[in-house]
Amino acid sequence: MELKNDLILRAAKGESIERYPVWLMRQAGRILPEYRAVRNSLSGFKELVETPELAAEVTIQPVDLLGVDAAIIFSDILVVPEAMGLTYEMVEKRGPWFPKTIRSKEELKYAETDFNIEDRLGYVTEAIRITNKELNGRVPLIGFAGAPWTIFCYMTEGQGSKTFSVARKILYTDPDLAHELLDRITTVTIAYLKSQIKAGAHMLQLFDSWAGILGKDQYAEFGVKYIKKIADAITEVPLTLFSKGAFHSIVDLANLNCNTIGMDWQMDPVSFREVIGESRTIQGNLDPAVLYGTHASVEDLTNKMLHTFKSQRHIVNLGHGVYPDIDPEKVKTFIKTVKNYEIIY
Ligand code: CP3
Repeated sequence: MELKNDLILRAAKGESIERYPVWLMRQAGRILPEYRAVRNSLSGFKELVETPELAAEVTIQPVDLLGVDAAIIFSDILVVPEAMGLTYEMVEKRGPWFPKTIRSKEELKYAETDFNIEDRLGYVTEAIRITNKELNGRVPLIGFAGAPWTIFCYMTEGQGSKTFSVARKILYTDPDLAHELLDRITTVTIAYLKSQIKAGAHMLQLFDSWAGILGKDQYAEFGVKYIKKIADAITEVPLTLFSKGAFHSIVDLANLNCNTIGMDWQMDPVSFREVIGESRTIQGNLDPAVLYGTHASVEDLTNKMLHTFKSQRHIVNLGHGVYPDIDPEKVKTFIKTVKNYEIIY
């Protein structure tokens, strides 16, 4: 299927672009009343994730309603631990909850690797196939997975946490267990991403949401080491790495085989570019809270952010996922501002 809009793929590869591509992390979700209508007609979040026709429908909503330059498949990073043997529940207003966790070698039996991806995650690849059919080449489709460290956090902690002290404790008390579990997550993640490519994903993103709770050395040993294995294995399509809060490791990240590195809004584009150079595309990084401001200030601050990048190797996004209570009209102003911006070289 030929793509009518391949801006984001060109920007990822460092090819020339006529304007900056723009999309938002968490664009398929609660900001849209149309998403909430589909979601409220079901038993819960997981039913939506596991019903390919509906997952495809909400994946396409932001393309139709907001005019973004890419779709991201509606799913969750937690489908990987579930496929490995740790089921999760999405508790209303509280977030994910895992009834079982892995904190000992005995519990490694809940981290299986020897299974067929299509058997356990076929609902995701089916959603990718349906989405591409319905998009009919309008924009590229982004597939994704959690980075091993972030998935490790949920598999050990069993829920969200401010400190992830259970996860971090294991790095000191039982590093062998940590490496074994990270290795297993990596193996499954590579197979899962390859199956997304086979199903039609045009590019991929790895989310390392909890990179920032580790120090530099620990992130090198328990984070970057496994991301490198994934980045080296994914050669077919462009790969983006979003390591939230990984200020200390920018040099390490710049050396990975990723086309694009995501920046959160606390990072400074100018110094980030100095380290990363022009060999990588940068994605980001407007503070998601900017979208609470007036239309005029959204426009002004979006333009200011764009000025600071001054490179065609830029994919525009927020510095993290869009907050659920943001007015979609403000999102439209953000997108319109990016689309009207004239690139200066
Ligand atoms: O639009 C998109 O970006 C695609 C869909 C997507 C979801 N989750 C849907 C979702 C993506 C890419 C994710 C990634 C994800 N999931 C991450 C990494 C990105 C990040 O935000 O740092 C993480 C850490 C998770 C785990 C997760 N899923 C949590 C902690 C929660 C609860 C908090 C919350 O935002 O509600 C979820 C639930 C979730 N995943 C929702 C959506 C739309 C909200 C649930 C609902 O609709 O009821």
